[in-house]
Amino acid sequence: MKALKVIGNQKLTGSIRISGAKNSAVALIPATLLSNGTTTLCNIPDVRDVDFLEQTLKYLGVDVKRASGSFLINTRNLKNLAIPEELSNKLRASYYFMAVLLARFKHVEMYFPGGCEIGARPIDQTLKAFKLLGAKIEEDGCLFKMNAEKLIGATIPLDMPSVGATINAIIVAVLAEGKTEILNAALEPEIVDLADMLNKMGAKIEGAGTSKISIVGVKELHGTNHDIIPDRIEAGTYTIIGALLGNYLKIDNIVPSHIKTLTDKLIEMGVNVEIHDDYLFVDSQDKIKAVDIKTQEYPGFPTDLQQPFVTLLTQAKGVSHVIETIYENRFMNVPYLNQMGSNIHVKDNTLTITGPNKLKGGLVKATDLRAGASLLIAALIADGETTITEINHLLRGYEEIVEKLTNVGAKIEIKEI
Ligand code: EPU
Repeated sequence: MKALKVIGNQKLTGSIRISGAKNSAVALIPATLLSNGTTTLCNIPDVRDVDFLEQTLKYLGVDVKRASGSFLINTRNLKNLAIPEELSNKLRASYYFMAVLLARFKHVEMYFPGGCEIGARPIDQTLKAFKLLGAKIEEDGCLFKMNAEKLIGATIPLDMPSVGATINAIIVAVLAEGKTEILNAALEPEIVDLADMLNKMGAKIEGAGTSKISIVGVKELHGTNHDIIPDRIEAGTYTIIGALLGNYLKIDNIVPSHIKTLTDKLIEMGVNVEIHDDYLFVDSQDKIKAVDIKTQEYPGFPTDLQQPFVTLLTQAKGVSHVIETIYENRFMNVPYLNQMGSNIHVKDNTLTITGPNKLKGGLVKATDLRAGASLLIAALIADGETTITEINHLLRGYEEIVEKLTNVGAKIEIKEI
């Protein structure tokens, strides 16, 4: 079994370059299949979720050439095959293929998508959008069979601004007949990135990044070249690490506005963050103040940074509160943090963190991607050595995490145990 061994308490200095956004890449890669042509995507992060998508592309007959950070995707031989459960259950984003195949072939069979086990994660909003656009859906256990005689533009009022449902609705609507309006759409930068790529391919999408997205369907799309935006969650994770251990640590290739809620909170805590056009410097402080956070849809505090931020709060002086409003099971890092010496109390969807508490190394488990990031941060600040197991979760979303941290002075390696 592979594990991460970390020797804590090393100051970090130098520069960490942020990769392309995982949650953009996992939407844009399937969306390229909307065109009957060749698309080049650059800044694709080398993470396991992308590996699973590459396997799915190949399974569907798509020609993929992967070079460092780029995908050349030729869809000429795309086949409409039922994606086997062992591929669809690897990650949430597999259901973007459901949307693409429905849009292209008006028929699709696919199993319920996978993803981190951080809550129930229903897909009712996606199914509602598909139905409003004209799909008939049969559910047979976890298998969905969808057919449409025609896909016709519609008004799609989402019950909540779901990222996945907004992306799925856009994907189907761009090839549907007539006009679609998505109301209460998610505002995340990854949705803007998707719309930017699709518009370059010939789609007619307006309003991405606002709560009302309008789409006029077109008959076909062509290939394009597109650079994926930087990963705001990776940027946030390393900025949090810098707040704890940074010696004027540079976080490079970022969009500062995408992580403003985080940097505002860090400044409120007394962390020294110096923000420039597409990079920032962050310095650790001896004393940081406790603060409260509540996770919310973009541009609120991102749920994906909640667990990494909790590790930072264990070092803040005073009592902090964390309210998680998006997922009901995103506190699985807490028992391990408490085992390492923190004082965190869980009640319903709220954490009360009393600090600061010195953490000490030990044996912990990455139960999901961002819990893994939280525990890695804990290991980096702990006294002694920490072993983190189940690191596959961590490798699903952070490109070259060992190399990036080693380069700035961390003592971290992957070992067989
Ligand atoms: N929801 C429903 N019904 C739906 C869809 C969503 O009730 O049909 C609920 C969910 O249960 C959740 C909330 O709405 O409580 C938000 O879900 P959303 O659909 O917005 O999330 P997602 O598309 O499944 C993406 C990211 C997540 C990130 C969330 C929120 C991808 C592949 N995943 O998930 O990323 O937490 O948006 O920002 O883009 C991660 O990277 O660690 C991760 C989990």
